[in-house]
Amino acid sequence: MNRSFFALLLVLAPAALLAAPPATGIVGTAHDLSSTGLNRVTAATNVCVFCHAIHNSASTAQQLIPDWNRATTSTTFQMYDSTVSQTLKGAVDNQPTGASLACLSCHDGTIAMGALINAPNGGGENTYTSIAGGVSNASGRMTGANVVGPDLTGDHPVSITYQDNLNSGLKVASTLIGVKLYPNNATGSKVHCGSCHDAHNYGTLGATAPFLRVTMANSALCVACHKK
Ligand code: HEC
Ligand code: HEC
Ligand code: HEC
Ligand code: HEC
Repeated sequence: MNRSFFALLLVLAPAALLAAPPATGIVGTAHDLSSTGLNRVTAATNVCVFCHAIHNSASTAQQLIPDWNRATTSTTFQMYDSTVSQTLKGAVDNQPTGASLACLSCHDGTIAMGALINAPNGGGENTYTSIAGGVSNASGRMTGANVVGPDLTGDHPVSITYQDNLNSGLKVASTLIGVKLYPNNATGSKVHCGSCHDAHNYGTLGATAPFLRVTMANSALCVACHKK
């Protein structure tokens, strides 16, 4: 393939794609739990292993996200419900699933961040145990302001069906840009933590930080799904 072919591709690329925020990556961020990560959560050098394993990751039934490599939390969560306002149109799961439950396996503060399904020691790496202090307590669990739950009643609904009809005020699923429904926007289905957040990209301060898929400037993230 030659240069002019790429130039053509660039011209043909939809504006939305070109306007996507630059990827800032995971290395060196709060989601880098290695010894060179922001919080130096462990002494490991492997970054991806805290969420994914190359081999022997979760069995199909427990595959919350691709190649999922964490122990799953057994916390009982209180899910969002709008019994008072009676405004919610989509069904909320009884307990968090998929790319919500995955986040909560660290963010509910009940599982050690180094508790992996497969702790590989290829290359002699066996330093996944979290270092107490900083963002972890003596058991290696998350502490502090980033712990979410078990009470999810005061958080934006997650593990909820994206119901774009029934007068819910939501845009049509297949037209969404930037945000992510699970399994995908074409078929549309659920809103999870990962609908608004991209665990791989910290983003830029005052815009797409922390780990947001769309900037919060002018509440763009909110109106990516909501009509108003
Ligand atoms: C803190 C948890 C976490 C870490 C660490 C992490 N990921 Fe992910 N990864 C996720 C989540 C969550 C998904 C599911 C897709 C989504 O919700 O964006 C995912 C999905 C993926 C996918 C599937 C394609 C996609 O984007 O959906 C690939 C490939 C991937 N990750 C690669 C990596 C690599 C490479 C690293 C290390 C540099 C890494 N991940 C580290 C959480 C993580
Ligand atoms: C392997 C453990 C782990 C998993 C899984 C994980 N996180 Fe985190 N996350 C962390 C740690 C550690 C921090 C930093 C905590 C602190 O600074 O107090 C963090 C911080 C964050 C922050 C705040 C960053 C900031 O600077 O304000 C957000 C937002 C976040 N995570 C979202 C998510 C979402 C969404 C998911 C699921 C897609 C997820 N995380 C999965 C470990 C994890
Ligand atoms: C509807 C979009 C949306 C969903 C869904 C969502 N978040 Fe967030 N999250 C945000 C925004 C926006 C911020 C930044 C808040 C701010 O700047 O005031 C944030 C901030 C955070 C923070 C930083 C600490 C804080 O409270 O500000 C963490 C940790 C976090 N989210 C984790 C999660 C987890 C875990 C889930 C799923 C249980 C989740 N988020 C679901 C939009 C979302
Ligand atoms: C990925 C899509 C998505 C994004 C992004 C999003 N929301 Fe939502 N939001 C939903 C869904 C789905 C519902 C449930 C609607 C229903 O079923 O009635 C909802 C419901 C709500 C509700 C009503 C809850 C109730 O009790 O009726 C509020 C308020 C809300 N969102 C605010 C926000 C704000 C503020 C933001 C930006 C930080 C945001 N949303 C971003 C999908 C999204």
